[in-house]
Amino acid sequence: MVTATALAEDRYFVPRTAAITAAQPVLDAAEHAALVARIKTLLKERDAVLVAHYYVDESLQRIAEETGGFISDSLEMARYGKEHPASTLVVAGVRFMGETAKILSPEKRVLMPTLEAECSLDLGCPADAFRAFCEAHPDHVVVVYSNTSVEVKALADYVVTSSIAVPLVEWLRDQGRKILWAPDRHLGDYIRRETGADMLLWDGACVVHDEFRSRELEKLRKDHPLAAVLVHPESPRDVILQADVVGSTSQLIAAVQNRPESEFIVATDNRIFYKMQQAAPDKRLIEAPTGGHSATCRSCAHCPWMAMNDLTSLAETLEHGSNEIFIDEDARLKALVATQRMLDFAAEHRRRVVGDA
Ligand code: 13P
Ligand code: SF4
Repeated sequence: MVTATALAEDRYFVPRTAAITAAQPVLDAAEHAALVARIKTLLKERDAVLVAHYYVDESLQRIAEETGGFISDSLEMARYGKEHPASTLVVAGVRFMGETAKILSPEKRVLMPTLEAECSLDLGCPADAFRAFCEAHPDHVVVVYSNTSVEVKALADYVVTSSIAVPLVEWLRDQGRKILWAPDRHLGDYIRRETGADMLLWDGACVVHDEFRSRELEKLRKDHPLAAVLVHPESPRDVILQADVVGSTSQLIAAVQNRPESEFIVATDNRIFYKMQQAAPDKRLIEAPTGGHSATCRSCAHCPWMAMNDLTSLAETLEHGSNEIFIDEDARLKALVATQRMLDFAAEHRRRVVGDA
């Protein structure tokens, strides 16, 4: 199935989520309130807006909500940052999200609470190795997941996020195009099964979703026979095959809100529960099981790099203007072409689906 050789996971360091959170300052209620107030003041003083991913800590998501910022999936984060009038975007998430904001809004200052927040998909797809893969298959159209560096995006014809990947690949398939896909092997496999497209896959994985376990999920479903199973497509095939809904973070939140079930088993980062519960307060959310038991899992359903975004690092970034994203202009312009194609396709697709053309 997999046709490219990616970096083995042991070639890059994957921190444990528990170790990241244990090293963060513990704040009492008064310190927490004072820090939140300081962040809110700094956002105003710096003409900054906070754009947060659903996987960051609830305390940051709350600040985004309370200050006119935004919480969303990676596609909407990119779009929102571009359209918002603030001169500084503070992106709470992982590095590729900050880079995407900069690709689309070069005139804005883009800051992140930390520049150490990586993504295993990005780390597992270095630009040089990926260039060789592309050069070996010149007759393929290159489609890369947004969870990649600006240099990898610069090699692509199209960038996609999980919310738009299937319709975009269907559209390419209908034109008879052969596709080279990177970096997530599970998402690539899912798209290939959904679309029947001719696809070569890079061999990357998300360390968080890769930990969801199908046998344990089968057992959990028996204990909750009326629950709907919601799965992010970065999860392994045997987990996806048990899903009632496969979708991006925002699509999974919409499913909780719109579906009739009162219980949901959720296979994605558990920080999404904040928004899910807000969207459907009466519904019960259950974490899908991860590798082994909580004592042995590495992420335990919370991304270690997303966990690096905390209140203290956010306040320091705003205070000092630190952790600014800079990207090479040549790479940015190339990456912009592939990213803009996604945004244009997404806008056109929405018009077709919603019928507001
Ligand atoms: P979404 O595009 O669904 O927000 O996912 C981003 C991500 O990193 C999932 O692990
Ligand atoms: Fe990357 Fe997975 Fe973390 Fe998303 S959850 S940022 S795909 S490592």
